[in-house]
Amino acid sequence: MKTLVLNGSPRKNGDTVSLINVVSDSLEGDIRKVDTYFPEAEISPCIDCRYCRDKEGCAIHDGMDAVYAYIQECDNILVASPIYFSELTGRLLDFGSRLQTYYSARFFQHRVPIAKPKRGAVILVGGGDGDMGKAYDTACTLLTCMNCKEIYPLVFSHNTDKTPAVEDGSCLNGVKRIAGFFQFCRTHCAKL
Ligand SMILES: Cc1cc2nc3c(=O)[nH]c(=O)nc-3n(C[C@H](O)[C@H](O)[C@H](O)COP(=O)(O)O)c2cc1C
Repeated sequence: MKTLVLNGSPRKNGDTVSLINVVSDSLEGDIRKVDTYFPEAEISPCIDCRYCRDKEGCAIHDGMDAVYAYIQECDNILVASPIYFSELTGRLLDFGSRLQTYYSARFFQHRVPIAKPKRGAVILVGGGDGDMGKAYDTACTLLTCMNCKEIYPLVFSHNTDKTPAVEDGSCLNGVKRIAGFFQFCRTHCAKL
């Protein structure tokens, strides 16, 4: 089982990372993390050069090359992010812009860019208790673009300004259920 984890937080030991660690500890198989704010990711945003309108792949060659390859083969994709102004964070949206190549393949070239279906899930954290619907919708758009056919309901932690997400019992239960949802795919597929 292969799982891609997209981390939208710039904080190395923040709320998002603490929840990603809980999922990772509960998952079997290979886990590939993309820390969108860390320089090691080396992922620059789409510049709308239009290369992908009639060609396969992306004109930019950077850290995204390895991520594109992993997206083809993985079984699960987790988007985990803080809320910034009710949206996903900037660097995560930059990452998302590089998925335009998949959109272009489908809608300009009438081609299926990713054959393997995946399961997706979203974890969001916020300092307050505002609505997370906009960020969840955006995350679901990114997951759908990466061929996630089933997406788990949103798991979130509010009020991280007062209580760290990792101490939020109902969020922790949700995070563990995501691991079960991802794992089920492998068990189910093994029986087929
Ligand atoms: C630029 C910025 C914008 C933010 N906007 C929101 C917001 O709209 N709603 C909210 O609940 N929290 C907001 N926050 C708070 C973060 O979402 C919160 O501190 C979160 O727990 C940080 O997660 P992390 O430790 O994983 O980075 C914002 C924080 C920053 C730095």
